[in-house]
Amino acid sequence: MPDANLFAANLSEVLKPVAEARGLPNAHYVSDEMFAAEREAVLFDTWAGLTVGAQVPQPGDAIPVSFLGMPLVAVRGRDGQVRVFQNTCRHRGMILVSEKGKVGNVIRCPYHSWSYALSGELKATPHVGGPGHNTHAEIDRATLGLVEIRSHVWRDVVFVNVNGNAPAFEDYAADVMARWAEFEQPIHHGGPESSFSFDVACNWKLAVENYCESYHLPWIHPGLNSYSRLEDHYHIEEPGHFSGQGTRVYRPTLTTDGRRFPDHQGLSDKWDAGAEYIALYPNVLFGVHRDHSYAIILEPAAKDRTIEHVEIYYADPAVQGEPFRDMRTANAKMWYGVFEEDVFVVEGMQTGRMGRYFDGGKFSPAMDGPTHMFHHWVAERLSQVQLAAE
Ligand code: FES
Ligand SMILES: [Fe+2]
Repeated sequence: MPDANLFAANLSEVLKPVAEARGLPNAHYVSDEMFAAEREAVLFDTWAGLTVGAQVPQPGDAIPVSFLGMPLVAVRGRDGQVRVFQNTCRHRGMILVSEKGKVGNVIRCPYHSWSYALSGELKATPHVGGPGHNTHAEIDRATLGLVEIRSHVWRDVVFVNVNGNAPAFEDYAADVMARWAEFEQPIHHGGPESSFSFDVACNWKLAVENYCESYHLPWIHPGLNSYSRLEDHYHIEEPGHFSGQGTRVYRPTLTTDGRRFPDHQGLSDKWDAGAEYIALYPNVLFGVHRDHSYAIILEPAAKDRTIEHVEIYYADPAVQGEPFRDMRTANAKMWYGVFEEDVFVVEGMQTGRMGRYFDGGKFSPAMDGPTHMFHHWVAERLSQVQLAAE
């Protein structure tokens, strides 16, 4: 349980209405203790994004992820389902999977070869009863399966609730799922060029905060702003673990010959030229358009280091084919450029928080509502821990 005194730095200022509120104090960005406290209350007690299904496309594929220091492994089973396990052998605690790739039919520990099914059961324990004896009365395989971590896949993102105590994902994300019900359709990963990452020197929350608002568009994204201006955007700030922004004018030019990606079926006209960008708290950033979507998983590597994993998906599986390669590449390049433009501001805000007299900042009630919503949500979660500790 984190020390309640850690939060004495006045979260009540953050919990005020946006017009009077201050942002989260510096400690939330620069303190190791606070990083550890937020790991529990904000990331492990909720549904955090870990990886995407496209990283383990076939049964028998596995990807190890050290998530805030916790060794996890996501595995696609024979039944096609992705499961997440603690990546630690039940024998002597060896790390089981150390590289992304195919594990085959079983996860075999490299130390003494205990082997687990892709669904977690312990299947083989060679020589455990002495040379030539693969069983022992005291080794009850039924109780020695891999520790499964609660997980749920939505829009191909593998969400985990490490502490096992969050409401069901469908309840947690009910509001955003309802908002985007029209997009509950299969999505198809664009392949290698549609998967890229940025290693950014900032606390993960700054990436969320910057993503939620369109206020910075004219200065940080002049290219985007040339066809989708600040005044074409609206805020998304309804209660429910998410916030963000939308545009009424989404029309980038990807080719000179007017070709388009095929659209999702049956969308309402809102999406003809509309697009929405939502941060599902704590750490997943989504964007949806009529023809493609993306997810960005923020991997909090340290208090001041975040890996942003970008994955792009298309409405139609035909886009995975060769005829669309140039357009897929152009689209990935376009998004790479936009996200790259944001790097210096999130890094600059991190450095700015070393200023000891910074008071959390002053929100614009007109422009910073979605960002304040995120701060409010973080402060609320930490306050609950504080209350429980008292
Ligand atoms: S530590 Fe895994 S088999 Fe011994
Ligand atoms: Fe941006």
